[in-house]
Amino acid sequence: MNNLNDRRFYYPSQQITENAIVKDYDELYRYSVEHREEFWAEQAENLFWHKRWDAVLDKSNPPFYRWFPGARTNIVYNALDRHQQTPVRNKLALIWEGEPGDVRTFSYHSVNREVSQFANVLKSMGVKKGDVVTIYMPQIPEQIFAMLACARIGAVHSVVFGGFSHESLADRINDANSRVVITADGGYKRGKVVEMKSIVNKAMELSPTMEICITIRRANVDVYMENGRDYWYHDLVGLPIASYKCETEVMESDDMLFLLYTSGSTGKPKALVHTHGGYSVYTSTTHRMVFDLKPEDRYWCAADPGWITGHSYIVYGTLINGATVVMYEGAPTYPYPDRWWKMVDKYGVNILYTSPTAIRSLMRFGDSWPKRNDLSSLRLLGSVGEPINPEAWKWYHEIIGNGRCPIMDTWWQTETGGFMITPLPITPLKPGSASKPFFGNEISVVNEEGREVNVGEEGNLVIKSPWPGMTAGVYKDNQRFIDTYWSKYSKQGWYQTGDSAKIDEDGYFWIIGRTDDVIKISGYRLGSYELESIMSSHAAIVESAAIALPHPVKGNCIHIYAVLRKGYEPGKELEKELIGHVITHLGPIAKPEEIIFVDQLPKTRSGKIMRRVLKARALGLPEGDLSTLED
Ligand code: WT7
Repeated sequence: MNNLNDRRFYYPSQQITENAIVKDYDELYRYSVEHREEFWAEQAENLFWHKRWDAVLDKSNPPFYRWFPGARTNIVYNALDRHQQTPVRNKLALIWEGEPGDVRTFSYHSVNREVSQFANVLKSMGVKKGDVVTIYMPQIPEQIFAMLACARIGAVHSVVFGGFSHESLADRINDANSRVVITADGGYKRGKVVEMKSIVNKAMELSPTMEICITIRRANVDVYMENGRDYWYHDLVGLPIASYKCETEVMESDDMLFLLYTSGSTGKPKALVHTHGGYSVYTSTTHRMVFDLKPEDRYWCAADPGWITGHSYIVYGTLINGATVVMYEGAPTYPYPDRWWKMVDKYGVNILYTSPTAIRSLMRFGDSWPKRNDLSSLRLLGSVGEPINPEAWKWYHEIIGNGRCPIMDTWWQTETGGFMITPLPITPLKPGSASKPFFGNEISVVNEEGREVNVGEEGNLVIKSPWPGMTAGVYKDNQRFIDTYWSKYSKQGWYQTGDSAKIDEDGYFWIIGRTDDVIKISGYRLGSYELESIMSSHAAIVESAAIALPHPVKGNCIHIYAVLRKGYEPGKELEKELIGHVITHLGPIAKPEEIIFVDQLPKTRSGKIMRRVLKARALGLPEGDLSTLED
């Protein structure tokens, strides 16, 4: 997909370059890596701190780096409270459109009030500093308010994406020992109502720790409510206790802000921890510099707030910068494939940030849909989640951006908290390359021994230096954090990303894909292990192997090789049943494209499934070193 031979640079216009917040990459980059702590201290000065830091970085106990230790703040203080004393108070913070076409808008002043009310509701339910609150919601304003309300009172939010099944939700609730969940009766997707509260009800049956569920009315769905456990949000905000005033709790810089579950190559999804201080600095700095945020801009990140992209670049980095955020509840193709372009036109969006999968899926409908709308307000475009193929890049650039808008292809991860490799608006672009490391970051491509590979050669992408957005670890599992990210290059102390990449002769990075058993499908992240253990829970299955194969729209799709128990007949019927089984247990995003029945799986002599052999065979590629293969 990546085309190293496409040498043509796309240069930003003079207007973009002249007005860009960052005007020189090389010089600032050099300074930022030679004086990393000074650089980040200067960025931190843009924020409000109740108490200054004792040190910028405590690196005494790697890989448990602590940014701004000793400092006190609360990310919400910077995202909301602080703006109340400036003209930002009266600015639109949020323009929201529901799928049926309903519109709600909020100024910074009113978001602040909504969040205080929500925070008081949570307090009235006994939520305290350090408690984990689970949020399982459609894309409605209250999803953002709920996150900020938790943070305001020092509680830790754990947002679970609304596309996950009740079992996946229950797993996350139980792992975090969460006793409060916030949801909505339903949300709109593709003209239908997704009944979220009933999914939560099923999850609560599997969750011994769950005590309270607060439900927001969105879709007028009839839902089952249990006395003493279930509360309507609109009933609670009506009580005198839910006033519009709520003090923002002062937190230590490294107090937990949120947990976010993500898939790895082994085991169940793990919760990554992000904290108040470093994450505030990193998300706001990257957002401002990369998206070149101007006070008058309208910014739309089309991701779900339930993913890290939404946490960092819809909610936190964005609001700290006082941006006007556009948000949409539903499907991009509802009722017609130009819903997004209509949104851009209607709200005068200046910056649009989305994924290659979304671009490819809209591209299929042809140019006439975007062309029927006025997209001239757009100034910058962004892409995230997977490598963007040059065809999609060029369509995005020409048809959506009318050839005028630089594309910020941002490489990062749930773990990194914010952009790690990314262009700036001034960067000459190569379609398909995320270009160069963001300020402060030393990033390389190395071989198994840790030696840098030659120009144009593939290797493992590693991050050699700490950065303020980095995760503070895996929730309650330090060993897993060390094993997953820091063991491969433990001698050097480098962070292993799990991605492979190349660096070309201009120093541009080309991300190739995961080297582990993580599958990126439509930009979402799933583990082979999760899919395989669900397969094994079906009576017909002895064992299975899940692999990712290229797909023209989704980037990758899931193929599962399965060995049947005696007495089961392979066939279309059983395949359909198994696909349904996976969807029921993991959620619609985990839908396998195909299940292939086989007599046995290729394994090493020690019994490990060799997924790479299956993949090579499926693609008709050389199968590589087979010396460890059991016959
Ligand atoms: C993995 C992280 C970061 C928010 C969304 C995904 C892949 C991400 C790019 C990009 C090529 C990318 C990597 C990475 N990825 N952005 N611009 N180009 N690949 O977060 O779910 O934690 O997934 O997404 O493989 O490791 P995530």
